[in-house]
Amino acid sequence: MLPTASLLAAAAVAALAIPASAQQPSPATAWTVPDVNRLPDDKFGRLVRHGKDLVERTYAHIGPEVKDAVRRYSGNNLSCSSCHVDAGTKKYGNTFVGVFADYPQYRPREDDIQTIEDRVNGCMERSMAGRPLPVDGPDMRAFLAYFKFLSSGVPVGTAIEGRGLPKAALPDRAADPARGKAVYDAFCVACHGAEGAGQRAGVPGDAKGYNFPPLWGPDTYNNGAGMARVIMAARFIKGNMPKGTTHETAVLTDEQAFDVAAYINSQPRGAKAGLEADFPDRRKKPVDAAFPPYRAGFTADQHKYGPFKPIVREREKGLAPVGAVRTTTGG
Ligand code: HEC
Ligand code: HEC
Repeated sequence: MLPTASLLAAAAVAALAIPASAQQPSPATAWTVPDVNRLPDDKFGRLVRHGKDLVERTYAHIGPEVKDAVRRYSGNNLSCSSCHVDAGTKKYGNTFVGVFADYPQYRPREDDIQTIEDRVNGCMERSMAGRPLPVDGPDMRAFLAYFKFLSSGVPVGTAIEGRGLPKAALPDRAADPARGKAVYDAFCVACHGAEGAGQRAGVPGDAKGYNFPPLWGPDTYNNGAGMARVIMAARFIKGNMPKGTTHETAVLTDEQAFDVAAYINSQPRGAKAGLEADFPDRRKKPVDAAFPPYRAGFTADQHKYGPFKPIVREREKGLAPVGAVRTTTGG
């Protein structure tokens, strides 16, 4: 048996021999979710718990039905948890775990450095179809406290396993809303309803939100939201829907996830003004951002439903000229 020192030396030589491109990236920080119940009943503990409550019952604090009109920041009765599953603690459920350690970060949508407050307000104006929260206000501070707590022990700049949404293979064909309706009727309609309106917890006007959130119509995310993009929605659905699904137990095939995402996102929903200003460096516009301006050579429909691979190839060239074509079919 070789002494440890020689083993280490052999390993070092072996490592040197491997071309950099073949080496594994450094392992992601392990997944841990700190427990809010273990925080003391002091100011920070209370703020974190309030932040969690804001994430889970957004509609009851800043929704369109709260009594104090000044507090109506959100334009719909969703909660952040409608899409950041289990209060943002679910692996590949659009989690908030580790997110704090990754901001400020460069964001192509704004072509600028974005703070985590900017990101919250991005979801306020799009996913929540409302208006931005004051950056120094008590609600934003509570969100920050909760996010900071959920990133306990995650070093700045590290990737965390389970962040974001699972990957889904891009189909070679366009996602098909008609096939998506069949998927919807089989797997989704029981909770989200034939009209996509979800099921309220109580009655309209009571600020109690939904047991099952609406997927289209007036009380859900608008056409500028991340979820309004078919690839983004397909990845969310693959890893999280029907409710109870995890990234390890996907119920739908990738194609079914794309088709049902196409069906949902072909339905009417609120419009966000000024989408043309998103992604000012047009080369970086995501391939599934289905609002103008569109890339030269690709229709509005292809940006919305695919096939996406040809647009991906064009985007990767990084120099694709962008057409000034304007149509009304976007989003
Ligand atoms: C309709 C679904 C939806 C709702 C509701 C929603 N979000 Fe999001 N959120 C997303 C998606 C999708 C992304 C990631 C994709 C993107 O837009 O770039 C995201 C991203 C984020 C991020 C950045 C996460 C990261 O990994 O960098 C933060 C922070 C965030 N949301 C906060 C919130 C808060 C706070 C609320 C409630 C006030 C909220 N979101 C409500 C869908 C939603
Ligand atoms: C058993 C009930 C149930 C079923 C079935 C179900 N969902 Fe959901 N869905 C939920 C709940 C509850 C949420 C809120 C997030 C959470 O708690 O997981 C949600 C959230 C969502 C969201 C994000 C929030 C929003 O309002 O847009 C989408 C998109 C979605 N579901 C799509 C689907 C699709 C597509 C299917 C079928 C493949 C499906 N769901 C099946 C219960 C369900």
